[in-house]
Amino acid sequence: MQNNVRPETMERITTPALAQAFIQEQLAAIKAQVGDKKVLLALSGGVDSSVVAALLIKAIGRNLVCVHVNHGLLRKGEPEQVIQVFRNEMNANLIYVDAVDRFLDKLAGVSDPEQKRKIIGAEFIRVFEEEARKQEGIEFLAQGTIYPDILESGPVKAHHNVGGLPEDLKFELVEPLKFLFKDEVRVVGHELGLPDGMVYRQPFPGPGLGVRCVGAITRDRLEAVRESDAILREEFKKNGLEGRVWQYFTIVPDFKTVGVKDNKRCFEWPVVLRAVNTRDAMTATVEDVPFALLQHITQRITAEVPGVNRVLFDLTPKPTGTIEWE
Ligand code: XMP
Repeated sequence: MQNNVRPETMERITTPALAQAFIQEQLAAIKAQVGDKKVLLALSGGVDSSVVAALLIKAIGRNLVCVHVNHGLLRKGEPEQVIQVFRNEMNANLIYVDAVDRFLDKLAGVSDPEQKRKIIGAEFIRVFEEEARKQEGIEFLAQGTIYPDILESGPVKAHHNVGGLPEDLKFELVEPLKFLFKDEVRVVGHELGLPDGMVYRQPFPGPGLGVRCVGAITRDRLEAVRESDAILREEFKKNGLEGRVWQYFTIVPDFKTVGVKDNKRCFEWPVVLRAVNTRDAMTATVEDVPFALLQHITQRITAEVPGVNRVLFDLTPKPTGTIEWE
């Protein structure tokens, strides 16, 4: 039986010194657990899996085999950042799987949100399983489990539909962060030298941009989500809102409205902006984004994102709206 209760004596990791002590302790524990055996990790580039990767690279170097699956629903620049940080800077043993066509083909024509989530989760497991089978001598599976996942307190991971690997691929687990809360994971990640953009990023759903491309996903509308999201993030960063607002993103619904561009009528999508604050994601309030900034973002999105002629701002708190649109 694994011990899944955070020791009462464990101090909250709030300072670099405490993070360093935690890192040293975990490096020894990981080495003792895995010795010279190989460990597999699904590295999404999110905070938890990135911190686990950085820790294991320090402990066992290239005996950690990282698999980054690009399912086509990541934000602009994310796969490139994973390759840059882990393969180029940390010399990680990183397998990059371009599964974009596979996922988008499976999702074509599927409009039901739960069905979309199931397809994304199941396909992810299938791709990861295929990569795991190609590897020789793997005995361990590392996971970015954190304490709230064990407590199952938040609604965030309750959304996860990703099933498990088949029986014959049930490796022994390595879960160095399992007693940490998110803020502690970030302090540790920072001490491990990960870039701030990776360590302090906003929450991002497992099914990624798939739940923000409302209804049946098409490649062109997915690009409109990705490009508008990149503009929103760039403008929030420039204007000091990054790190201050809990979650902000764009949604592209699956309908078009009439507009006018270059003196011609055009029938194109609207982009919806959403920016919310919350403690636990159970309720949320809307960020009071300065009107001038909203106007500037609108101007940029309508000028720079193909197929978009309108921008809206979602004024709805949770409840009655959820944070995501589906
Ligand atoms: P809602 O939309 O339910 O979202 O108010 C609450 C929080 O959960 C995130 N979210 C997800 N996270 N898989 C995830 O990993 C999902 O399918 C999913 N759906 C919503 C959402 O971004 C917010 O932080």
